[in-house]
Amino acid sequence: MIMVNEPLLDGNEKKYLNECIDTGWISSEGPFIKKFESQMAHYVGRKYATACSSGTAALDIAVSALNLQEGDEVILPSFTIISCAQALTKLGIKPVLVDSEYDTFNMKVKDIESKITPKTKAIMIVHVFGLTVDVDPIINLAKRYKLRVIEDAAQMHGQEYKSQKCGSFGDISIFSFYPNKHITTGEGGMVLCSDEILDKRSKSLRNLCFGEQRFIHEEIGFNYRMTNMQAALGVAQLERIDQIVEKKRWIGETYNELLQDLDMINLPIKVTNYCENIYWVYAITLKDDFSRTAKQIMSKLEDCKIGTRPFFYPMHQQPVFNKAGLFLQDKFPNSEKLYEKGFYIPSGLALTKNQAVKVSDALHKVLL
Ligand SMILES: Cc1ncc(COP(=O)(O)O)c(C=O)c1O
Repeated sequence: MIMVNEPLLDGNEKKYLNECIDTGWISSEGPFIKKFESQMAHYVGRKYATACSSGTAALDIAVSALNLQEGDEVILPSFTIISCAQALTKLGIKPVLVDSEYDTFNMKVKDIESKITPKTKAIMIVHVFGLTVDVDPIINLAKRYKLRVIEDAAQMHGQEYKSQKCGSFGDISIFSFYPNKHITTGEGGMVLCSDEILDKRSKSLRNLCFGEQRFIHEEIGFNYRMTNMQAALGVAQLERIDQIVEKKRWIGETYNELLQDLDMINLPIKVTNYCENIYWVYAITLKDDFSRTAKQIMSKLEDCKIGTRPFFYPMHQQPVFNKAGLFLQDKFPNSEKLYEKGFYIPSGLALTKNQAVKVSDALHKVLL
């Protein structure tokens, strides 16, 4: 089986993990935590970073750190992972959705302004699959309407928008370090900002909002701490970020070449006016006049021992939200069609040329 994602841990990961075990620093108190935080902050161009237990945890911290309140509204794409919307609904904040562009998979920026109401307090940018959202118009809108901006850069380590690193936009941003990400810590996440107060709140929220005096709490927080062992992996991975980005782009270019003759599928866009694809995953959509669904193709590929994943199921169709009375009137045709027509193929960092050729051969066999 060629797995949809196989991570590559071939740098100093083992050495740094051994250091954790040899020194006994295995909890969140160890030295790799601060090192990983300061190196990530420096890498993306932020002042502060808070390592935590997942990208989902990072979104919870970011939303709480901004002091968004019950009844506030936050605008975000429907085509994303549930972590984005549930960070809001858990606090009684109303997620207000926009559709996404069919070709870049990213939120339709021009649809945002019409969703702004007096209750809107923030916009959540989510970069999806490898291309960035067009950030500038969102930052301008946010300034005009005095809104906060959260940047979900969970999939975007090393990616740049107009030559500026993802993870550096808006008031607060987040990354995930799940093994399918460019940088992995097994499980893990990070919150980044350049405002000292937001940073202090993020760190306090991560650690149960412990007050000055131990065990006295003014607010409810989370235990979302990262362990020193996870941070050790992160430090080792970050040392190779340039190679990692290069490998991801090589995977993308390799598939672009191998699959270019398949005219029943849309291949990912290589460049836009503001970014070059980093191919977090190699995402394909089936053309409109192709009779079979993504689900049927994925099942055939599985028979050929090729791992795949479906696209996100849109937030406005999620049973859990519909049962709560949310999004019942919403219709977002592109997000719906992306789920029906889209899937991604093996594109983890350990992928070899030989494997890419096997994936391409299987796709040709299944589609032609
Ligand atoms: C855009 C986006 N945001 C948030 C997350 C959540 O990250 P985690 O899986 O680390 O909780 C993911 C996970 O893939 C993601 O793709």
